[in-house]
Amino acid sequence: MKPSAEPRRYLVTSALPYANGPIHIGHLAGAFLPADIYVRYLRSMAKDVLYVCGSDEHGVAITLRAQKEHLTPREIIDKYHPVIRDSLKAFGISFDNYSRTSLPIHRETAQEFFTRFAENKEFEVFEQKETEQLYDPKVDRFLPDRYVTGTCPVCNSPGAYGDQCEKCGSSLSPTDLIDPRSAYTGETPVLRKTSHWFLRLDKMQQDWLNDFVAQQQDRWKPNVYGQCKSWLDGGLQPRAITRDLDWGIPVPLPDAEGKVLYVWFDAPIGYISSTKEWALQRGTPDAWKPYWQDPDTALVHFIGKDNIVFHTLIFPAMLHYHGDYIVPWQIPANEFLNLEGDKMSTSRNYAVWLHEYLQDFPGKEDVLRYVLAATLPETKDNDFTWKDFQARNNNELVAILGNFVNRVLTLVQKYYQGAVPRPVDTTPVLETHLTALKQELETYVRAYSDSMERFRFRDALTALMNMARAGNGYLQQCEPWKLARDQSGLVPGILYHGVQVCALLAAYMEPFLPFTAGRLWDMLNTPRVSLAELQAGEGSPAALSELVPAGTLLPVPPLLFDKIEDDTVAAQVARLQPPATQTTTAPLPVEGTRGTPELSPAKPEIQFPDFEKLDIRVATITAAERVPKADRLLKLTLDTGLDTRTVVSGIAEHYAPEAIVGQRVCLLANLAPRKLKGIDSQGMVLMAESPEGTLRFVVPAEDLPNGSVVR
Ligand code: 2FM
Ligand code: ZN
Repeated sequence: MKPSAEPRRYLVTSALPYANGPIHIGHLAGAFLPADIYVRYLRSMAKDVLYVCGSDEHGVAITLRAQKEHLTPREIIDKYHPVIRDSLKAFGISFDNYSRTSLPIHRETAQEFFTRFAENKEFEVFEQKETEQLYDPKVDRFLPDRYVTGTCPVCNSPGAYGDQCEKCGSSLSPTDLIDPRSAYTGETPVLRKTSHWFLRLDKMQQDWLNDFVAQQQDRWKPNVYGQCKSWLDGGLQPRAITRDLDWGIPVPLPDAEGKVLYVWFDAPIGYISSTKEWALQRGTPDAWKPYWQDPDTALVHFIGKDNIVFHTLIFPAMLHYHGDYIVPWQIPANEFLNLEGDKMSTSRNYAVWLHEYLQDFPGKEDVLRYVLAATLPETKDNDFTWKDFQARNNNELVAILGNFVNRVLTLVQKYYQGAVPRPVDTTPVLETHLTALKQELETYVRAYSDSMERFRFRDALTALMNMARAGNGYLQQCEPWKLARDQSGLVPGILYHGVQVCALLAAYMEPFLPFTAGRLWDMLNTPRVSLAELQAGEGSPAALSELVPAGTLLPVPPLLFDKIEDDTVAAQVARLQPPATQTTTAPLPVEGTRGTPELSPAKPEIQFPDFEKLDIRVATITAAERVPKADRLLKLTLDTGLDTRTVVSGIAEHYAPEAIVGQRVCLLANLAPRKLKGIDSQGMVLMAESPEGTLRFVVPAEDLPNGSVVR
C-alpha cells in the first residue's frame, strides 16, 4: 500500500460530521481516531502533514433536526458545531484546522466547482434535466430524500426514507416508496416537474473512473476496492447534485432560484475550504495549494463504510474534472462499530456519547482511545462492550503498560531517591537478558512502523503493548528487587535500561495515548523525543541509547492508569437504552408539533374484496437466526399448519432470535415470495408498530391451532 515513491507531504482528512447532534464513539472509531493516530505518527516521523476537517452543515440532516427541535437550521448548526468541535478536541483529535461548511470561504469554493463544471464545454460534466419529483402542495415544497417516508418496496417495512430503507439497507428513490407521505404534513405528495443538474458519472466512468479505480487495486483496502468495483460493475448513472431546498449553498446561476447544491456535492469540497481557512489563519493564503495541487502530496481520506462511494468515485471524479486538483491516494474506510451487539443510532439515542463520557470519566480520554484503537472495525464490523472496556483497562493498560512503568520508576525512587542510576556492573546472564530485550524490542518496533504504514492500527497497538510486555519480562528475569538486598552493583544497569524502555514507550505510545505520553515524559523529566529522532539515533531505536540521561532526577511517580470497578461499568450499561424500546421509524415530526411521536395517518378507504385477498394464518416460529450482513433482518422458520416455510423479517432490532422460537404469530401467507439478501421469503409476519416505532408481534389467542384463518 505504500506509494512507490515517498510522498513529499500528506493531507489527511476525517469525514465531516453532520452538525445535527453530538457525536458518539462510533464516529470516533470510524473516522477520527484512526486518522489522528496516523497523523500523530507522521508528525512524529517529521513528515510534512496537514490534518483538516470541519462540520458538515448543509442537507436534510440539518433541516430535519431543526424541525424536530423547533429551531432554524442556522440555530442547529450553531448549537452542535461547538459541541462536536470541543468533544473531538477533548479526545486529543489533533486537527490543524476544524472548519465548518457554512463559512463564506466554503460557499465560494463549492460554487467555483459548480461554475467550472457548468462552463466546461469540452467534456460536459453536467447535464440539466427536468424530472418529476414528489411535492407537498400544502406547504408548497418539493420533498427531497428524507422528506418522504413510506413503505419499503423491498422489505415492506414502514418508515423507509426517500433515499434509503434503514430496515433492509436498500438504496431507494422517493418515488419507489409505497404509500409515500410528506414529512411536513403527513399528506400524500403529488408529482411535479422540476429541473436539476446531474453529474454525468456514466460518462466519467468510461472516460476516467474505470482506469482510476483499476489502478488502486493493490493500494486500497479490499473492502474499499471491492465496494467501489461493484458500483462500477453495476454501471454508474448520472446523479443529481442540486436540490429544491431553502438550506444549502445556492446554485450559482441566474436561472436557479430556490435551488441549492446537494450536500454530498459541497461536503467533500469542505476538505479544500478547511485547508484554505487554515492557510488564511496563519497568514499565508497560498499555503493550501501544495496540499491540493502538487502531485507529490498524498491525499488520505479517513471515512466510515457508508461514505465509500462518495470518496472513491464521486469526489475523485469532481477533483479530476475540475482540473486543478490531485486525487485521493488512500481511503482507509472502516466498517461499523456496534455497541453491546446492537447498531448505534443517534435517532434512537443508542450510543456512548463523547460529551457524556468526558463527564463520567474525566482524565480517562486515553482509556477510550486505547479501547477503541484495540477494537477498530478495520476489516469487519466490531463491537464495543463496557465489559471489554473494563477488561482492557484493567488487564492491559493497568496490568501491562502501567505496571511496567510503575515498577521501574518506583524502584528508582526506592533505591536511588529518584536519580536515574548510571550502570556500574553486569554479568553474562544479565547481558543475555538485555540482549534478548533489545532483540524483542527490535521486532516490535519494526512491526509497529510497518503496521502504521499499512493503516493497520490495531496491529501497531499490539506491537506497542508487546514492547511493554518485553519490559515486564526483562524485569521479571533480572529481579532487581532481589539483587538490591545484597547491595549489588548490578541493579543500576537494570533500572537504567528499564528507564530507557519507559522513554521508548513514551515515544511510541504518543499516536495512541497522547495524554499519557505527555505525562510519562514529565515523569521522566525529559524533553519529548520523536520517532524520527529515535530512528535517526545510533543503531536501531531498540538499541536503548540514552534517552533519559543517568543522573536525571525523577519525580515521585503517580500511577499512569487506575482500575475501573464493576459498578462503574454496570452503571454505564444500565443507562443504555435497550434498542428494542427505541425507534427508528417514528413519523417525522411535522412543523408546529413538539416532535412527539404521532400515530401514522389513516390510510385511504378500501373495499371488502381488497381485504379478502389477504390470506392471514396463525403460525408458530420454530427457528430464528440473524441474516449475515443485514443488521435488521431475521430469518424465521414457520410452521403454518399448511407447510413449513421461511420468512425474512425486519425485526432483528426488536427481538433476539433465541427469544422468539416458539412464538405464535399471524402470517400474511399469500404475499408473493421475494428474495431478501439471497433468501426466498415466503410471506410476512404481521407486526404492530407503536408511535415510537417499537415493533411487536400480533399474537393470536393460545387455543388457535396453526393454520387458523384470520379474517
Ligand atoms: O455521513 C456523514 O456524516 C457526512 N456528513 C460525511 C461527509 S464526508 C465529506 F465528504 F465531507
Ligand atoms: Zn426495506
